[in-house]
Amino acid sequence: MKVLIADKADSICEKTLKERGLEAVYKPGLALPDLKKEIASCDAVIVRSATKITSEVVDAASKLKAVARAGSGVDTIDVAACSAKKILVMNTPFGNTVSTAEHAISMMMALARHIPQAHASTIAGKWEKSKFEGVELTGKTLGIVGCGNVGSVVADRAIGLKMNVLAFDPVMTQEKAEKMGIKLVSLDELFAKSDFITFHVTLNDKTKNMINKESIAKMKKGVRLINCARGAIMVEGDVKSALESGHISGMAIDVYAKEPATESVFFSMPNVICTPHIAASTKDAQITVARQAAEQIADYLLEGKIKHAVNGDKI
Ligand code: MLT
Repeated sequence: MKVLIADKADSICEKTLKERGLEAVYKPGLALPDLKKEIASCDAVIVRSATKITSEVVDAASKLKAVARAGSGVDTIDVAACSAKKILVMNTPFGNTVSTAEHAISMMMALARHIPQAHASTIAGKWEKSKFEGVELTGKTLGIVGCGNVGSVVADRAIGLKMNVLAFDPVMTQEKAEKMGIKLVSLDELFAKSDFITFHVTLNDKTKNMINKESIAKMKKGVRLINCARGAIMVEGDVKSALESGHISGMAIDVYAKEPATESVFFSMPNVICTPHIAASTKDAQITVARQAAEQIADYLLEGKIKHAVNGDKI
């Protein structure tokens, strides 16, 4: 059986598939016509976020039985189209949790101390000491919107930084929050009390555009935001206006509504820090998710075992 690795993945992915007796074809970055041609003869495909498994691709995949996402978000996969053709869709939800959380914490620190801006100014020979006065994190309140896999690790690290942590999460129990040393609150309370807010939600109908004019108005003046979740959770124009007025004093962005983002309304803003969707891009996380995706595909194709399926009930 043949598995296409359609995005750049650690070599452990190909090695694992081969060790399990599967044929592995490593062809990252295929253009759509080539992808459709290649996938037609494959039993499974492994993707990260670059290759989109659209209904058009699914239509061309006449033998396909499974799609594995080496990562957690499946918003680049047309899950409904896969379900309609009984194609199992899986993700690897835990493999990049720590890396993503660490990136969010790094972004928060960079925001608090203007690290990227100060670096650019210093190497330009400007020595602007007073321009880059920052704020401490100790004693400040961090609001975590979505306290699942990634949000929980962010909470743990923020407690270590002596921050007060508030969380909004419809699934988390009070008991769990207490055990973690954080306070579970309503979204409005989190917005009203937080000095920093970090988002760790999946993209769905409820979270799409959740950072908008109305929700920003509920936030503290001078709040700093971190988005390492998905670009489409924010209304870019509303965020831009709030950054211009100073209601949001700074924002760190790793994700964009349209990726790759080679242009953005945020790129020219002095109080915004941007990275190119690299929260999960560590050697450690990429080895883990590549191996897990390959194992999950092999388990399913060879033994019918299902792990971390997002449409298991439809197969
Ligand atoms: C994920 O969904 O796993 C993260 O956003 C990381 C990624 O897309 O590479």
